[in-house]
Amino acid sequence: MLFLVAQTFLVIVLVRARLTGAANATLAELCKADNLRNALPTNGTLLGINFLPESLTAQLTNTSVGSGTAAGPSVSVASNIYSFCNLTVNYVHAGAEDRTIRLRFALPAPSEYKSRFYVGGGGGYSLSSDATGGLAYGAASGATDAGYDAFDKSLDQAVLLANGTLDWDSVRMFSYQALGEMTLIAKQILPSLYGSDTDSSKVWTYFSGCSDGGRQAMSQVQRWGDLYDGVVAGAPAFRQGQQQILHLNPAAIEQQRGYFPPPCALQKIVNATIEACDPLDGRTDGVISRTDLCMSRFNLNSTVGKAYYCAAETSTSLGFGFGRRQLAAGSQTNSLPEQNGTVTVDDVMIARAVYEGVFTSSGKRAYLSWQIGSDLGDAEPTYDNATSSWVLNIPSTGGVFVRKFLERLELDNLDDEAFASITNDQLVAWMDKGTREYYDTLQTTWPDLSTFANHGGKLIHYHGESDNSVPAASSVHYRQSVASSMHADLASAQQEERLDEWYRLFLVPGGAHCSANSLQPNGPFPQAASLMQQIIDWVERDIAPAGLNATVTQGGSDEGKSVSLCRWPYRPVWSSENATDINAMGCEMPDTEARESWTYAFEAFGYAVY
Ligand SMILES: *[C@@H]1O[C@H](CO)[C@@H](O)[C@H](O)[C@H]1NC(C)=O
Ligand SMILES: *[C@@H]1O[C@H](CO)[C@@H](O)[C@H](O)[C@H]1NC(C)=O
Ligand SMILES: *[C@@H]1O[C@H](CO)[C@@H](O)[C@H](O)[C@H]1NC(C)=O
Ligand SMILES: *[C@@H]1O[C@H](CO)[C@@H](O)[C@H](O)[C@H]1NC(C)=O
Ligand SMILES: *[C@@H]1O[C@H](CO)[C@@H](O)[C@H](O)[C@H]1NC(C)=O
Ligand SMILES: *[C@@H]1O[C@H](CO)[C@@H](O)[C@H](O)[C@H]1NC(C)=O
Ligand SMILES: *[C@@H]1O[C@H](CO)[C@@H](O)[C@H](O)[C@H]1NC(C)=O
Ligand SMILES: *[C@@H]1O[C@H](CO)[C@@H](O)[C@H](O)[C@H]1NC(C)=O
Ligand SMILES: *[C@@H]1O[C@H](CO)[C@@H](O)[C@H](O)[C@H]1NC(C)=O
Ligand SMILES: *[C@@H]1O[C@H](CO)[C@@H](O)[C@H](O)[C@H]1NC(C)=O
Ligand SMILES: *[C@@H]1O[C@H](CO)[C@@H](O)[C@H](O)[C@H]1NC(C)=O
Repeated sequence: MLFLVAQTFLVIVLVRARLTGAANATLAELCKADNLRNALPTNGTLLGINFLPESLTAQLTNTSVGSGTAAGPSVSVASNIYSFCNLTVNYVHAGAEDRTIRLRFALPAPSEYKSRFYVGGGGGYSLSSDATGGLAYGAASGATDAGYDAFDKSLDQAVLLANGTLDWDSVRMFSYQALGEMTLIAKQILPSLYGSDTDSSKVWTYFSGCSDGGRQAMSQVQRWGDLYDGVVAGAPAFRQGQQQILHLNPAAIEQQRGYFPPPCALQKIVNATIEACDPLDGRTDGVISRTDLCMSRFNLNSTVGKAYYCAAETSTSLGFGFGRRQLAAGSQTNSLPEQNGTVTVDDVMIARAVYEGVFTSSGKRAYLSWQIGSDLGDAEPTYDNATSSWVLNIPSTGGVFVRKFLERLELDNLDDEAFASITNDQLVAWMDKGTREYYDTLQTTWPDLSTFANHGGKLIHYHGESDNSVPAASSVHYRQSVASSMHADLASAQQEERLDEWYRLFLVPGGAHCSANSLQPNGPFPQAASLMQQIIDWVERDIAPAGLNATVTQGGSDEGKSVSLCRWPYRPVWSSENATDINAMGCEMPDTEARESWTYAFEAFGYAVY
């Protein structure tokens, strides 16, 4: 009898909880460690994932956070104070208990929670260690240490167990698995924690990241497509077999031709290209909005003889932000002398070869390159003050990939000796090896996104057109691969229409790598909060972004203005009547030549490179 009463009482409590929304009405209630422990899936529920309940900690916390890092670390966002429950808990893979995976979750107050889960991408070889990026959107969010101490280490610090021995578990966890498991776990836990005022236990699930964070975003679309509803992928650093070796191509060109151009000459070539190609889009504003037209109509030779001047300076480069948790390695301090001269035929020869891409010795294309007018930072030599000359500078982005990921040696970069007899065929062999070794992990170019599309997922993909690290054409090539893989039976215009329903690509005029471009200050760039607003609108309200909202932030004459960027394959153009107005940008279907300038076949490889 007593038993019956108790049971009836329990049913009433549960029904009440259903009807009135979350029974855990306050954050303090939600954040009780015992409650949270009970909400963990028991061993065997999520196959292979075993929780260590005694590891769980929970703390009410107030923190000042921005609204995510979608547009990269260099973009500052408005910050606010949020109260949240800081939940940490560890798990292991069943049968592999020697490696503990630590999770951090930031759980918003029940009154703030909008049935959303948010994951922010990291950058370089790092995963994000910040779990608070979703609070601004009423989302719970998380971060994972991937089982190799990723809160404090970047992958290049963990990838080797010893010289010769790769840690495949870390590579796989970094590449896609740790993030997918974290999201799977969160979607299991959140509905029971917050209750639900409808029968649905829907958790709208988002990912936003740029650079390697963009690759991480794509990895989730490709591998865990049924988990995510909305993904924002900026300048994804995917196709790593090719991408990391591309960083070495400028130095290889200079080494092979025996000429190391003064950085100031390269900067002058870039500036002169921007100036000459700026008006081709119909509007003279210091921005090349049409690098495709620049490529076919501008002759770099016209910069020969232009005078340049750069004052002496001491600069420190951090190697493009790779190995972010390891600033010392790969960073270089360079004392540059005053440079005063004129652009030579040899300077232009180097710039032209860099923009053309990577070829085998027999002339077969192995990879594309940065769009013309992009900064040529990877091509800038080092100054040797002992001999007063410009000498080989090997970017550590590419060097560490060869050393650690291909050769499996604990070395941070290639050295002059390793590069002394570099050939194009060596670069291509490295690309081939990287592609084969990491096809399932870092390459991240699987082109069939049916799982994600069929599940109703929406994808916003954007890329700075003047990106000097990951080429804009890399993103275009991937989208073309998705279109032709998923809709091989359709003509290309129809492929575009079908993809447009759930996958939209936006090139950002003048944009640099995950940020606005100081060389083209009037170029707009999409802001993190605005990207999230647009993906949320698409997912939850079915309002698809006709254009992508981007804002001018670098102090150009259009500072503060926002524009709606054209979506691929349409390209920006201004008519002469309204060329003064940045907002009067039209979007046209480019002619065949301009379209084809974005299309590449990589004949150097005997297999498809997606
Ligand atoms: C309150 O939270 C606990 C876990 O913290 C969960 O077990 C319980 O179901 C929640 N109650 C409701 C009805 O949401
Ligand atoms: C789940 O499995 C792990 C080991 O895989 C173990 O340490 C843990 O205690 C188990 N949890 C429970 C609740 O039995
Ligand atoms: C967080 O801020 C709220 C509101 O300002 C305050 O009431 C609460 O005591 C703070 N909690 C902690 C743990 O600092
Ligand atoms: C959350 O708690 C963990 C463990 O106590 C701590 O290391 C971490 O710094 C906390 N995070 C925040 C954002 O307060
Ligand atoms: C790993 O190999 C590199 C290159 O041969 C060498 O410099 C380094 O000392 C080796 N490290 C260890 C721990 O053996
Ligand atoms: C290139 O233009 C930028 C401004 O856009 C300027 O700061 C820089 O000095 C120029 N470089 C050269 C070599 O003229
Ligand atoms: C650029 O100049 C070089 C050297 O004078 C010449 O060989 C080459 O044909 C020229 N290229 C173009 C496109 O004019
Ligand atoms: C650069 O060199 C030219 C020619 O020698 C000279 O006229 C000019 O004053 C120099 N510019 C600077 C800033 O030193
Ligand atoms: C050359 O560079 C070294 C190391 O950066 C520095 O100590 C030295 O003063 C420089 N010499 C000259 C002549 O600038
Ligand atoms: C575009 O983004 C900016 C900056 O985030 C924002 O202020 C503006 O309201 C957005 N415009 C639209 C139309 O959403
Ligand atoms: C540009 O101006 C013309 C003439 O006033 C107008 O017809 C056209 O719609 C404008 N274009 C845009 C993109 O606003």
